[in-house]
Amino acid sequence: MKVSDLEYLLRQKLHIPPDLRLRDVAATVRSRPVSPGKAKDIASEPRELMPLLAQMAVDATAGRPFVKWWHYFAAYEEQFALLARQSRDGTLERPLRILEMGVWRGGSLDLWRQYFGPDAVIYGIDIDKVITTLGIDSAEVRVGSQTDEIFLLSVIEEMGGLDIVIDDGSHVSKDVLASLRILFPLLAEGGTYVIEDLHTSYWPAWGGGLRRKGSSIEFLKDLIDGLHQPYFGRSKRSGNVGINRDVLHSIQFYDSVAVLKKRACAEPQPFRGGDHSRPEASI
Ligand SMILES: C[S@@+](CC[C@H](N)C(=O)[O-])C[C@H]1O[C@@H](n2cnc3c(N)ncnc32)[C@H](O)[C@@H]1O
Repeated sequence: MKVSDLEYLLRQKLHIPPDLRLRDVAATVRSRPVSPGKAKDIASEPRELMPLLAQMAVDATAGRPFVKWWHYFAAYEEQFALLARQSRDGTLERPLRILEMGVWRGGSLDLWRQYFGPDAVIYGIDIDKVITTLGIDSAEVRVGSQTDEIFLLSVIEEMGGLDIVIDDGSHVSKDVLASLRILFPLLAEGGTYVIEDLHTSYWPAWGGGLRRKGSSIEFLKDLIDGLHQPYFGRSKRSGNVGINRDVLHSIQFYDSVAVLKKRACAEPQPFRGGDHSRPEASI
């Protein structure tokens, strides 16, 4: 790997703004957990993604490069272990349709192919047309922006629908939200929308800042209110985009990753268990 490639990779994945020298952040980076040394331990965890990763971490010739934060994989495993196993075993009713935004050098598409198996329909999009020159054969790749509605619609049409979105694209708040607005309505019932690298929503260079209006994390926090709308009685609105409890079943936050599940919430109904004629019920 060329030094310029390595610098690009570091800047992208660690989100080092262009005006910061790598040398100045080296100390911080060094103090962060690094994956390969942990590969053996993690491979012994009962998670099927982990042995794959452990293998990649120790095998320098394992394939196209990719970088994700180590703790994301536990989140992915928590979300997708069962579905991925069913997809690999071919026991789903139809193939899973997965879109990753942000392809870079294609390694993550290779990983998803191994994880979700040969039947899954996997597409990657990126604004950098270099992706068409890399010989990526584990997935279909298309060049275009995650903010371009017409482009996204054409990709989803080609895919035949959408079950999982992984946003690992620009990580600029307005782009993250533009994609969510376009793609969430296209997700199939029961689908999952994953947004990676949400730490950028705290950083001004990515359109973020702590509690900054318009940042992706603030928008996602608003969705939590939308989910609880019956309890504060205002009209059904989720802040901005029609992602309310009619379509949002849950939103989960991990460190820098949000996972939205598309499914209508049931009307809240109290459940009265036990015998309510007993004297203690009226104390
Ligand atoms: C963090 S890298 C993706 C890494 C890859 N998923 C992996 O795990 O190795 C981000 C990618 O997003 C692409 N990108 C940046 N802005 C974009 C946009 N508006 N639409 C689509 N892709 C974009 C960049 O060209 C870059 O390749």
